[in-house]
Amino acid sequence: MFNDTDIVLAEKRLVGEKAADFIKEGMIVGLGTGSTVYYTMQKLGRMVKEGLNISAVSTSLSTSTLAKELGIPLKSLNEVSRIDITIDGADEVDYMFRGIKGGGGALLFEKIVAYYSDQNIWVIDSGKYVSKLGKFPLPVEVIPMGYIQFLKKMQENNYKCVLRKNEKDIFKTDSGNVIIDVNIEKVTDYQEFNHWLLNIPGVVETGLFLDVVDKIIMPDKNDVKILIKDK
Ligand code: A5P
Repeated sequence: MFNDTDIVLAEKRLVGEKAADFIKEGMIVGLGTGSTVYYTMQKLGRMVKEGLNISAVSTSLSTSTLAKELGIPLKSLNEVSRIDITIDGADEVDYMFRGIKGGGGALLFEKIVAYYSDQNIWVIDSGKYVSKLGKFPLPVEVIPMGYIQFLKKMQENNYKCVLRKNEKDIFKTDSGNVIIDVNIEKVTDYQEFNHWLLNIPGVVETGLFLDVVDKIIMPDKNDVKILIKDK
């Protein structure tokens, strides 16, 4: 008998490995962060061992560490002329190909790498495909100076929010910033809300990825389906 976790893990493996099929000889590949891309990277590591020649650009320290363990050659974003394809996970995706990312705290590097990628593919388990964004709180990366003021500003505007913490301390991103997770269930205009957030001094980036993804790979019974965004 499978429990939910086994099913979700099986889905992550299925979609994660499928995404590796899109990686071809000579490509520069953006590698996202998280437990779904983990499976893409495992497969990519095997492909590299079998002779595939690619270079990868990482979106986090944890992804860089895993890539090194797997023998996937890394380059910095400054060293490449462009990125052919980036494969990443997401925390929520709606039917308009809009997503929330940053559950793992890597949203800033993920957004930068995605921006410079010719093609962006997201790999998600079925629970992440939603009719409306917002059950998953929106991660907002804020510089440490004055973040309490940002929390107050959100509360004054009736947005519930929490400062992200790990087991013992305040969570810090790879850039040394903090994350405030904001409840956006009442938001309907994501573009406008995103602009409002980005205009607040100290906000570095938000986890709203509104016009980024080209293809979504998600489970479909025992197989996968690939949703392709109209251009
Ligand atoms: C990292 O900060 C996130 O954007 C991840 O890509 C996202 O949280 C998906 O992670 P999982 O694949 O682990 O669910």
